[in-house]
Order: sequence, then C-alpha cells, then structure tokens
Amino acid sequence: MKLNENYSNLKESYLFSTIAKKVNDFSAAHPDKKIIRLGIGDVTLPLCKAVVNAMKSAVEEMGVQSTFRGYGPEQGYDFLKKAIKNYYAEKNVNLESDEIFISDGAKSDLGNILDLFDKDNTVLVPDPVYPVYVDTNIMAGRKIIYINANEENDFLPSPDESIKADIIYICSPNNPTGAVYTKEGLKKWVDYALKNKAIILFDAAYEAFITDETLPHSIYEIEGAKNCAIEFCSFSKTAGFTGTRCGYTVVPHALGRLNKMWLRRQTTKFNGVPYIVQRGAEAVFSKDGREEIQTNLNYYRENAKIIADTLTGCGIKFFGGKFSPYIWLKCPNNMSSWEFFDYILTNIQVVGTPGEGFGKNGEGFFRLTSFGSRENTIEAMKRFKTLINK
Ligand code: MLT
Repeated sequence: MKLNENYSNLKESYLFSTIAKKVNDFSAAHPDKKIIRLGIGDVTLPLCKAVVNAMKSAVEEMGVQSTFRGYGPEQGYDFLKKAIKNYYAEKNVNLESDEIFISDGAKSDLGNILDLFDKDNTVLVPDPVYPVYVDTNIMAGRKIIYINANEENDFLPSPDESIKADIIYICSPNNPTGAVYTKEGLKKWVDYALKNKAIILFDAAYEAFITDETLPHSIYEIEGAKNCAIEFCSFSKTAGFTGTRCGYTVVPHALGRLNKMWLRRQTTKFNGVPYIVQRGAEAVFSKDGREEIQTNLNYYRENAKIIADTLTGCGIKFFGGKFSPYIWLKCPNNMSSWEFFDYILTNIQVVGTPGEGFGKNGEGFFRLTSFGSRENTIEAMKRFKTLINK
C-alpha cells in the first residue's frame, strides 16, 4: 500500500479548521468572554418559510406509500432543474435540463470535477483565493500557477497572454475579496480560455448578492462562455442552505465529452441530493421564496453596510461588501493578517479570517463576513471602533 504523498504538500489543516481551533482554545481559556464570529462565511438566518413548507410537504410525501420515493436521479430531479433553467432564462441564458446537475454544494463539485481532468494540466488560480481550489489540486499533484489579485488591479486580475494555463478558476463575486467582474472583465477571460483551449471553472456561489444588473451573475452571460466554462452555484449563501446542502453545476453540451463524463462520474460516485432538500431548493424560486430570500439577503447587505461604515469611520481601507457578503480590509498599522487576527480576538473577541490564509497576496488583509446576526454585527463593530480609536 502506498499513500497519496501529495497530501504531505498540503498545509497541516484547512484554513477554517485552524481558525476554529484557535477560537476554541481561546474560549476554553476565557469562558467568561463573549466571542463574536465573523470568520467563516456561514449564514445565521433560518431557512425561509417557503422552503420550510416545501420541505415539510416533502417529508409527508415520503411517509406515505403512494408518494414515497427511493433513490432519485443522481443528477437531480427534473422539477428543480426546471426551476434553475427558468432562473437562467431570466438572464437570457438558455440551458438544457441535462446540462444542469444537482449536488450537495459547490465545494464538493469544485473538488470532484477534477476527476475529469488529467493530472498533466496547469492550473491557474488568482491569489488570494478560496483555499479549496488550491488544496484539491495539490491533492491530485497538479501544477498550480498564480495570478496576482491586488490593490493595483482592484483584486480583479486580467489574463496574462504570456502564461499558458489549462484550468482556470474564477470566483465572482469573489471570495475572499468581494470584487466583482464586469462583463468586459469576464470577456477577457473567456477570450483567453477559447484561444488557449483552456477551461474556466466559474464559482458563482455569491451571485445572489449582485444588485447592479449590469454585472454578470453567470459566466454564460458572456458570449462564447458555453464553449469554455463550467459553472458552479449553491443555495448555501443565497438561501441559507449551508447546513441543508444543495447546489448545482452547469456543464454545457458545447464542452463536448465533459457533459457525459460528468454524468458518468456523478452516477457512479454520487447518489443524489435528498428529495426533501431538492423540494426545499425548488421553493427558493417560487414567488414567496424569492421575496423571502431577498429579505434575508437585504439583512446581510445591511450588516455589510454597518461594517463598511465602521471601517470608513475608522479610516481603514477596504474592498467588497457592496455586492458580496465579504468585506476585505487592510490591517491597520501594517499588522500581518495573523497578528491582526490575534489582536482582535484577544482584545475584543471578534473573529475574522486572516487574508494570508487565502494566499500570499492576502497578507496584510483581513476578511469579515456580513453573515452574522444584526445584534452581533453591531456589537462587533462597536468593540472594533473602540479598539481602533484607542
Ligand atoms: C468561506 O467562509 O470562505 C466559506 O464559507 C467557505 C465555503 O463556502 O465553503
């Protein structure tokens, strides 16, 4: 037996596990202190009524002989695929049902999709980046190259024609920086991918936070993208499904064999998302569901504004927060990301995510999320202001 030695090239633990451990250690040492967590991007509002009602009805169906369901289609039920197809049609993106694959979330699919690609491919990731893109490729032993996302390019790098890449990751609105590509910005990547016969893995998990309708929610709003991009999306941040688990991946027929290969992969290694959860996800697109999730999204947007206003008041430079639940701030007094993490955890018991955990260009930056409760966000910002102005 030989181990996959690529695992020894990974950092010892996943970023959010490292943070959780640090916070738990602090909490054990200071049980009297109230910690406010604005670190991992986990939602706090409950599932909306429309989703809960749909799931309750689905549970009832499962308890009755005539409506009980066993194994479902591995790639998802038609009712949910149809709802997603209609959602894309509103953005003038026409998809076939069999181009949509329902899964338990974007993170799993972003990792699993790599089954379809040879080890001998060069992967291009922006730095800073969601660590899953990097770690899953390290596990497979693939060559990774980085493109700088930084203050100079507003954390929105454009392709560099001198670099040859085969697999390109793009996340917009971006995790961790909150930056959003315009259609023109994304078009440059689509053109590059077409020219270089590369594939773009487009993570649209935060698309629901976009309110400026000139900005693209989907890469397929860009001409030519169906010939070079796979899109991943999730109900986690859109509708509070982080614990419920549902997402979807679009693999257009225009990508040739990839659509059938993904079907083959999913039918072999995945048994589908529970019927009850898929009914809940379907309800996200109902009239009531859409209104209710907007109310929740507005709540998080307001939290983002509270954070942004506090940072502005403290004279701290930041990015994101407008069309994204993430606020990416520059650590004050030239502190490093982890120094700032320890500084605010120790002094005001607020948890954020050190930018360095997302890559070397994240050093000196820090990410806060707007997914906390209103009460905690206000309290955290009150403590923050007092500390910074001390
Ligand atoms: C994050 O905090 O970056 C996200 O919650 C991670 C994820 O969605 O897996």
